[in-house]
Amino acid sequence: MPNPFYDRDIVSIRDFAKDDLEFVFDTTDSISRLKHSQRGELGKGRTLGYIFYEPSTRTRMSFEAAMASLGGSSIGISDLKSSSVEKGESLADTIRVIDLYSDVILLRHPLDGSSRFAAELSQNPIINAGSGSEEHPTQALLDLYTILKEKGKIDGLSVAIVGDLKYGRTVYSLLYGLANYKVEVHLVSPPTLRIRKESLYEIQDKLKIKEHSKLDEVLPETDVIYVTRIQRERFPDVQEYEKVKGTYTIDENTLAKSKSDIAVMHPLPRVDEISQSIDHTKNAIYFKQASYGKELRAALLALMLNENLSR
Ligand code: NCD
Repeated sequence: MPNPFYDRDIVSIRDFAKDDLEFVFDTTDSISRLKHSQRGELGKGRTLGYIFYEPSTRTRMSFEAAMASLGGSSIGISDLKSSSVEKGESLADTIRVIDLYSDVILLRHPLDGSSRFAAELSQNPIINAGSGSEEHPTQALLDLYTILKEKGKIDGLSVAIVGDLKYGRTVYSLLYGLANYKVEVHLVSPPTLRIRKESLYEIQDKLKIKEHSKLDEVLPETDVIYVTRIQRERFPDVQEYEKVKGTYTIDENTLAKSKSDIAVMHPLPRVDEISQSIDHTKNAIYFKQASYGKELRAALLALMLNENLSR
């Protein structure tokens, strides 16, 4: 199978088939086994250019670390105040210029559709690092890869996705990705933060989905619980946020009601939805998940930059 990522935009995980996902998972395994010196050839002389219109810790740093591990470099803007965006420069002009200086462009922006728009303008491929509440495709790739590594499979699992299912973009990319597998999905949220209807219609034929508002009723059957932060910044009214914040907290009591090998995941940052008191347990895999992020993104960048790379 030819490399499906070479020179491709990564705007939505829906643009990729199951074989493509498996291609990048296999490449992540093989790249992680490479010697330092071999790995350092894959991005030599190449540049990742990024701009973040919203805050980021893991996404930006894991991409930078990944690019460095391939022998490449990163340039970019994470503080808009120090850029010409502050002077009123448009997204279109900003992307056109980053395109001149980079081989791959990484964009995070508060608007749905921003990455698709940027991809139409730039010559070099765009990676969507989060577009509004729409999607965050590379997060979903690393989430699926984490499930595969930690559970040894994806098919046959029961996955609970908990928290802000209305505004959480990682949730949408993860669901679209899971739709390639035979999994049972339990969506747990306050009634006001249920998954958006148009997305539910899209995936309900491909996935076994059930919606809940009580976490306890899904715990005994769950293999993977994917917890999300209530996305305060996306609420049109802060009082609405106040009503739902702190609805779910994963702690020792939650683990006591769950399968002994339940895997607790979170894209991070967490606020109060996972208690630090479970960080030391074998169930808490959210920091491991963040570390798989660097390896998966290194594989993705290597594939985007090297046509003949095989898995
Ligand atoms: C997420 C995001 O930006 O969507 N963060 C991340 O990339 N890991 C999740 C969040 O902000 O809650």
